[in-house]
Amino acid sequence: MSIGKKKELKVSIIVAKAKNNVIGKDNQLIWRLPADLQHFKQTTLGHHILMGRKTFESMGKPLPKRTSIVISRNPDYPVPDGHHLVHGMEEALDLARQKGLEKIFVIGGAQIYKQALPLTDELIVTEVEASPEGDVFFPEMDPEEWKVNERVIHSKDEKNEFDFTIVTYLRKTT
Ligand SMILES: NC(=O)c1ccc[n+]([C@@H]2O[C@H](COP(=O)([O-])OP(=O)(O)OC[C@H]3O[C@@H](n4cnc5c(N)ncnc54)[C@H](OP(=O)(O)O)[C@@H]3O)[C@@H](O)[C@H]2O)c1
Repeated sequence: MSIGKKKELKVSIIVAKAKNNVIGKDNQLIWRLPADLQHFKQTTLGHHILMGRKTFESMGKPLPKRTSIVISRNPDYPVPDGHHLVHGMEEALDLARQKGLEKIFVIGGAQIYKQALPLTDELIVTEVEASPEGDVFFPEMDPEEWKVNERVIHSKDEKNEFDFTIVTYLRKTT
């Protein structure tokens, strides 16, 4: 019997960003795109999702059928049973490795995306055809570091207020 080699942890960022890199305002999302929320749900269901304390608070409670890992400098920040509190990016990734995870989704916000980007293997970016005002931004991506793996175009309709494209980028290996 052969024993399979254990896979390394893959870090995947998932984000919805505007053309001007805006991702939020007043600790909230700024567009009505239920089709994108559905894509987010389908992609992350069953997985561990890593987020900053402000993003966790903006959601109000853990997302169902996912395990939340919340980053805060507050040693006593309350996180519901079955979810995790960590105090930095490395601690979060160590926890994921200790749990034997093959994948973790980084779901924001701006502070966490910035710290996670250099450690990330895959970016799943909803590129929204809008340039709204906001107060938090996705960091600049270096086009030399990423190649496009997939592009899925969505047109606006009565429920989704902007066109958007879901682009999956993989980190170039050479
Ligand atoms: N468009 C999207 O896809 C998307 C996704 C997610 C969020 N958002 C938006 O992003 C905004 C929130 O982003 P944000 O940048 O303000 O906040 P955030 O990244 O969600 O959380 C920031 C908090 O994380 C903790 N933190 C950050 N770095 C840390 C470190 N190295 N060690 C320990 N703790 C650390 C701190 O918590 P403490 O203060 O408790 O120490 C900090 O205040 C909201 O508007 C939200 O709607 C957009």
